[in-house]
Amino acid sequence: MKKRILSGMRPTGKLHLGHLVGALDNWIKLQDEYDCFFMVADWHALMSEYENPRDLKENILDNVIDWLACGISPKQSTIFIQSQVKEHLELAMIFSIITPLGWLERCPTYKEQLREITNRDLSTYGFLGYPVLQAADILLYKAGIVPVGQDQLPHLELTREIIRRFNHLYPVRKGTAIDTKFSNGEALFPEPEALLTKSSRLLGLDGRKMSKSYSNFISLSEDIETIRSKVQSMFTDPLRIKFTDPGHPENCNVHSYYEVFAPKRKQEIDALCRKAQIGCTDCKKELAEILIKFLAPIQERRGELLKNKKEVLDILSQGEEKARAVAQKTISEVKTLLDLP
Ligand code: TRP
Ligand code: SF4
Repeated sequence: MKKRILSGMRPTGKLHLGHLVGALDNWIKLQDEYDCFFMVADWHALMSEYENPRDLKENILDNVIDWLACGISPKQSTIFIQSQVKEHLELAMIFSIITPLGWLERCPTYKEQLREITNRDLSTYGFLGYPVLQAADILLYKAGIVPVGQDQLPHLELTREIIRRFNHLYPVRKGTAIDTKFSNGEALFPEPEALLTKSSRLLGLDGRKMSKSYSNFISLSEDIETIRSKVQSMFTDPLRIKFTDPGHPENCNVHSYYEVFAPKRKQEIDALCRKAQIGCTDCKKELAEILIKFLAPIQERRGELLKNKKEVLDILSQGEEKARAVAQKTISEVKTLLDLP
């Protein structure tokens, strides 16, 4: 039997090259080897976007279309929306009962976001419980492996702590009629391991971290002219002012895009740049065409899916059913352990 994976993405806006290179391409590779559950984390998105939730439904569908267009396969993987499987909330409730406040208050990502996100009020009960819901997402499917980026490691660690506490408080006892495959004193839940995704080598167009809030990204559905003008706006080697100045590709963000999207051409660009034999405008023009070509098949598939949203909705409802079947079984086991009706 294949090992199970669960991962999620928050539908907070359009997916961009950073999502593809940082997470999606990794998800796509994992599909052959693992039983993958890929979830749209709309509750988690709402925790930070609650003041302005208007685009949520649109973002959810748009992101799922991008997943599919990039190669997430509904034949291999289970694709679903978190809020459509109500059991997430039930398990989150149970976990919230056993999670000490201090664990949540000390969580480094929580402290960091409270500090850094100043344009929204995140001092809510729900946002403090972000990792509790995330633990429920993972354990509802008893996923042993969770592919995540570096930034999610504190959440994974909390998941592991919560589950250790749960397993300690509620070991499966002999005679508990939850499942014959459990022996006496065994744990109901596995302790999930993070599968660390190599962090994306792609920075935003301005050289800062690629992020929705900086508007410094190229989305997967960006049109051709916008790609051209966005690439022309990219920051380059700050020491290369005139065409005749030799460039330092190692200090150039454009160059790192070549590394990801055209590694063979990168070597040549490297040499041309150092000898001042290519200008930055031409170098960026060429990169734009490379990106356009790279995105073309994804955008074509996107176009087909957009014309046939029914297919996407069917995929989601099938995913939901598969997810719910697993989720219900877990919840009934948990309820047996806790002696809940
Ligand atoms: N917190 C994750 C993020 O911001 C999204 C997420 C929600 C998630 N539930 C999850 C990731 C469960 C992995 C497993 O990207
Ligand atoms: Fe960067 Fe290309 Fe200009 Fe060199 S020529 S500095 S790699 S944009």
